[in-house]
Amino acid sequence: ANNLDYDLTTPINPDGVGLRQKLSSYGDAHFSLFMRKLFIKAMGYSEDALSRPIVGIVNTYSSFNPCHANIPQLIDAVKRGVQLSGGLAIDFPTISLHESFAAPTSMYLRNLMSMDTEEMIQAQPVDSVVLIGGCDKTTPAQLMGGISANKPIIHLVTGPMMPGSFQGVRVGACTDCRSNWAKFRAGAMDIEDISGLNEELAPTAGTCGVMGTASTMACLLVALGMMPIQAATAPAVSSARLRISESTGTHAVQLAKTRLQPQTILTRESFLNAITVLQAIGGSTNAIVHLMAIVNRHPTLAGTITPHTIDTIGRQTPLLVDLKPSGENYMTDFHNAGGMAALLHELKPLLHLDALTVTGRTLGAELADIPFRPLPPHSNLANCIRPLANPLYPASALVIFERGILAGTTGGAAVIKASASKDRRLLKHRGKAVIFDGSADLAARIDDPDLDVDRDSVLILRGIGPVGNPGMPEAGLIPIPKKLAERGVVDMLRISDGRMSGTAGGTIVLHVSPEGADPGSVLGVLRDGDVVVCDVVERMLDVELEETEVLERINKRRREMASAGGESPWVSREGVRGYRGLYMREVNQAEHGADFGFLTAAGPGRTPGGGN
Ligand code: FES
Ligand code: MG
Repeated sequence: ANNLDYDLTTPINPDGVGLRQKLSSYGDAHFSLFMRKLFIKAMGYSEDALSRPIVGIVNTYSSFNPCHANIPQLIDAVKRGVQLSGGLAIDFPTISLHESFAAPTSMYLRNLMSMDTEEMIQAQPVDSVVLIGGCDKTTPAQLMGGISANKPIIHLVTGPMMPGSFQGVRVGACTDCRSNWAKFRAGAMDIEDISGLNEELAPTAGTCGVMGTASTMACLLVALGMMPIQAATAPAVSSARLRISESTGTHAVQLAKTRLQPQTILTRESFLNAITVLQAIGGSTNAIVHLMAIVNRHPTLAGTITPHTIDTIGRQTPLLVDLKPSGENYMTDFHNAGGMAALLHELKPLLHLDALTVTGRTLGAELADIPFRPLPPHSNLANCIRPLANPLYPASALVIFERGILAGTTGGAAVIKASASKDRRLLKHRGKAVIFDGSADLAARIDDPDLDVDRDSVLILRGIGPVGNPGMPEAGLIPIPKKLAERGVVDMLRISDGRMSGTAGGTIVLHVSPEGADPGSVLGVLRDGDVVVCDVVERMLDVELEETEVLERINKRRREMASAGGESPWVSREGVRGYRGLYMREVNQAEHGADFGFLTAAGPGRTPGGGN
C-alpha cells in the first residue's frame, strides 16, 4: 500500500503518471487522488496495479458495427501485451460508427467522434492510449481527436474481412456489392442470385475487403508513423491480428514511458509519406478529406499540406497496388503479397525514411527490420504489388484539378480517381451539362425515358456538399441513366460536390468546392446545356462561359437567396438546433477537411493556414 499518497506534507505533482494526471477539482490534490483510488478500487485493482503506467484502450465495439466485431478479442490481446510489459490496461468506450448505420452519413458523425475521442483522452488519467478502430470514419476521427489531445497514442485497426465466394467467384464488400446491384438493376441477375450473394458479400468480421476508405486509412496510418508497419493488412479474423494487438500493447507501455506525442511524431515528411502511399495504393478519395482534417488539427502543420500537395506528389508516384476498385485483388491478397512492408520497400526512393514513428524509431529503421523478399514470379500474387518499374498506372491515380472555373480558382479540392475510370477516353472530355439539384431530384429523373441526355452528356449532381446536405453523402456515384445503361453505356463523366465510397469506380469528379449550396459557388449556377470541359492531364475543369456571365448568375442567385429567408441551407443554418445546427454552422469545406472550424488548430472562424 502506498500510504505516502495521503501524506499531506508530500506535494502531489499533477504532471505525474497514472492517477495523478490532471487531478479533478475535489478541493485539494491529495483528496482528489484519494477519491480516484477509492472508486477505481471498486473495479478490483490493487495498489500495485494502480502504481503502473496506465494504458487506455479505446473500445469502439458496437453490435451495429460488424467492422469492429472482433474488438473484444483485440482488447484481450492488447491487455496481455500491456500487462506483460508492466503496465495497467484500462479500456473505455467511445461512440462507434458503421457506414450503414450512421444516418444521415457516417461523415456527419466523424467530427462528433473526434470530439468524443479527444475529450475522453483528456479527461481520464491515461499515460498512453491504444485507439482501436477500423471502419471508414473511425480511424480519421480517432487521429483527429488524438492529435488535438496530444497524449501519446498508437493506432490498432480491426483489419479487413475475408473475401466470400459466390457461384465459384470470389466476392467482397463493397466493390462487388455495387457492381452486382447494377447487374440486378439492369435485369442481368435474378432475385434468387442477388439474395444468395447477399449472404456472401461480408462473410466475416472486419472492414471492407478492398482498397476502400477503411483499408486506405489503415495504410496511411502506417505511412504517417502512427501504427506499426505490419498492422495495416492482417485479416480481422487472423491470429496475426491478435499478435499485432499484443505487440501494440507492448508499444503502448513504451509510449507511456517515452511520452512521444502525436504532434511530435507527425511532421511534414510524415504527411508526404502518407500521400505517396495514398497515390501508390490508388486509395479512397475520402482519404483526401480526412488527411486535410488531420493535418489541420496540427498546430504547426495546419494549412501547409493542401489538396494540391496530393496532386504534386501524385505526379511522381505510380500506382503499384492492384486492388479493387482500381484493380482486381482483395485486401487478403495484398496482405499475403507482403502488405505494407513490401509496398514501402518498393516505394523507398520516394519516401522520407527519416520520418519518426510511434515506436520512437524512424520509418527507415522499422522497415530495415522487415526483410524484403519479393514473391517468386510464378506466384499468383506476384502482380498484386507491382515494382516501381512496372506500375499498374504510371502516375497520379488521384488527380486534383487546378485550372478552370469549376476547379475552384481559390484552391478547391475537386478530385478524380483517374485510375478507377472505366472509360479512359472520358478523362479528356467536353459535353453538355445535365443537372440534378440534390439526391431526390436525381432519383426522380435519372431513369426518366424523356431525360435529355446522351452518352456524351456530363451528369452533374449538386447540393450534396458539407452544408447543402449535412454529412456530404457518398452520392457522387451518379448512376448511368437506365436508357443509356441498356444500350451498354458503362461510364460517363460525372461531377458533384459530394463524396463517393472508396469502393466505387468510374469517371467521377468529387468534392467540388465551394459546394453548390454556397452563395458564391460556380457549380451552383450552372444550367442544363452549359458546356463542361474536363481534361485530367491538364488538371482542367472548366465551363465554356464568359466570366462576366458566371458573375452575373452568382450575383442574381445571391439576391434570390437573400430574399428567400429560410429557403437556402446557407441562410437557414443559423436556426437549426442540436448537433445538426452545430454541424451546419461550423463545418468547413472539403479542401479544409470538412472539420468544424473551432476544432482546427487555427481555431474558431479561421481558415487553417491563414486567410479568413
Ligand atoms: Fe466498415 Fe466498409 S462498412 S469498412
Ligand atoms: Mg466506405
